[in-house]
Amino acid sequence: MELGRIAKARGFRLVVHEEIDSTNEEAKRLIAAGERGPLWIVARRQSQGRGRLGRNWESPPGNLYATLVLSDAAPARRAPELGFVTGLATIEALKAATGFAERLTLKWPNDILLDGAKLAGVLLEAAVAPVAGETESSAIIGIGVNCISAPLQTSYPAIALADRGPTAPSAPALFSLLSDAMIASLDLWDGGERFHAIRAQWLKQAGGIGETIKVKLAREIIEGRFETIDAAGRLKIMTDLGERIVEAGDVFFPSADTSAERGA
Ligand code: BTN
Repeated sequence: MELGRIAKARGFRLVVHEEIDSTNEEAKRLIAAGERGPLWIVARRQSQGRGRLGRNWESPPGNLYATLVLSDAAPARRAPELGFVTGLATIEALKAATGFAERLTLKWPNDILLDGAKLAGVLLEAAVAPVAGETESSAIIGIGVNCISAPLQTSYPAIALADRGPTAPSAPALFSLLSDAMIASLDLWDGGERFHAIRAQWLKQAGGIGETIKVKLAREIIEGRFETIDAAGRLKIMTDLGERIVEAGDVFFPSADTSAERGA
C-alpha cells in the first residue's frame, strides 16, 4: 500500500494496518492523542467496519478500507461538503483504475454505483479535540470500496470490481489513485470556497436525476422526481404533495426499490 506521487509530494502520511476494528475508530483515537493529519489510515481488513446510518460494513481482506484525517480543511460549517468532495475523488479514482467510466455513477449523498449496484461508500465523521485551551474539529473521511467481494445481505444491491472481470484493480493500486484524486478534489473545493464547482462535477455524474426515486427517511419513505441537490448538498425531490428537501436518508433508484419497500 503506497500513497500516490502527488499525495507524497504534498506531505500526506500513511499508516497501514493488517487488521483493525475500524479505520474511522482508529482516526478518532489518534485525533484524541493529538493527530491532526493529513494522514491516511488503511487496513487490509476491519473487524468492526461501520457504514452510514449505524449500519455495519463487512470488511474481509481484499477490499479497500481507508480513512483520511484532515484538520483545518475548511470552516466547520463547510465540513458536510467533504462527503461530495470525497465521492467525486472516489469515482475519479475508479474511472482511472478501470475501463468502466460510463458505468460508474454517484448516488446521493456519496455512494458510487457500478452498473446500478453499490460499489463504494463514504462515512464522514468529525472529532473534536482540545488544542491550546480551545477545541479544534478534525474531519474523519472513511472510504470503503468493494474490490474483490461484495456483501450479499444489503439494503441496496452491492457489487465488487472483480464481479466485472478478472483484471479488477487491487486495493493498493486503487488506493494510490484515490490518494491523488482526493487532493485534486480538495484543490477544486478550495477550502470550501468553491463547493459550486464540486456540486457541478457531482451532478454531471449523478444517477437518477429527473427520475422517480424513493428516499427512505427515519420514519417514512417518500417518492418523487429527483430534481437536483441544492447549494448545501441537500436532495431536492418533487413529490405529489410538493417539494421536499432531504438532509439525510437512503436513495433507491427504480431498479433497486424493492429493498426500500421491504424496509431493509
Ligand atoms: C456507507 O455506508 O456507504 C459508508 C461505508 C464506509 C466504509 C468505510 S471502510 C473505511 C472506513 N472505516 C469504517 O469503519 N467505515 C469506513
